[in-house]
Amino acid sequence: MPIRINPSILAADFANFERELGRIRTADLVHVDIMDNHFVPNLTFGLAMVDRLQQVSPLPLDIHLMIDDPDKWAPGYAEVGAYSVTFHAEAAADAAGLARRLRAIGARAGLALKPGTPVEQYLELLPEFDQVLVMTVEPGFGGQSFMASTMPKLETLSAAVKSSGLDVWLQVDGGITEQTIEIAAAAGADTFVAGSSVFGADDPAAQIALLRSSAAR
Ligand code: DX5
Ligand code: ZN
Repeated sequence: MPIRINPSILAADFANFERELGRIRTADLVHVDIMDNHFVPNLTFGLAMVDRLQQVSPLPLDIHLMIDDPDKWAPGYAEVGAYSVTFHAEAAADAAGLARRLRAIGARAGLALKPGTPVEQYLELLPEFDQVLVMTVEPGFGGQSFMASTMPKLETLSAAVKSSGLDVWLQVDGGITEQTIEIAAAAGADTFVAGSSVFGADDPAAQIALLRSSAAR
């Protein structure tokens, strides 16, 4: 099973994004957390920033929208060339319709679930999505502790994806370290977002390699 490591630039030096992107060249995608101070109690970047990052990033961008009204805003991120655009199930008015619009523009469509959101009602939507993001912390901030209580949801998704024969990546985000990545991989995750563990390391490339080998264990 291929494993993807997506460092989150929420933990990078905000004054030096281009240089920070150069430190994670051995990763797979760059995870960009968009927060609107409404859906989550924190504020980060918007479309203009993503448009510019897209021009300088050596790796494709994995956009995580923690915003209200993704039905209105998400397609813009696909239009500037984001590789994947993930929006929250709790915020979307028409998740399937929005996923179709994102795919029609050429982006991979992702559905994110907060720790307390059950997955069962979304299983029938799996064919509409390229990835599902199981949040392993409450969205809003980096540096929080991994919630193992979300693992049964990942196991349910993993079984559903396998039995469907679909190619849907299963992503986890929040508190991923060389220890917790083993737990998430065992539960069926294949795509791992890591903020503080990568950008907080003296050698991000070595940390990415360590995460990769821990996930494969
Ligand atoms: C949290 C964000 C995460 C965050 C993860 O709401 O979605 O992507 O950057 O940070 P760490 O890896 O430090 O938990
Ligand atoms: Zn994120």
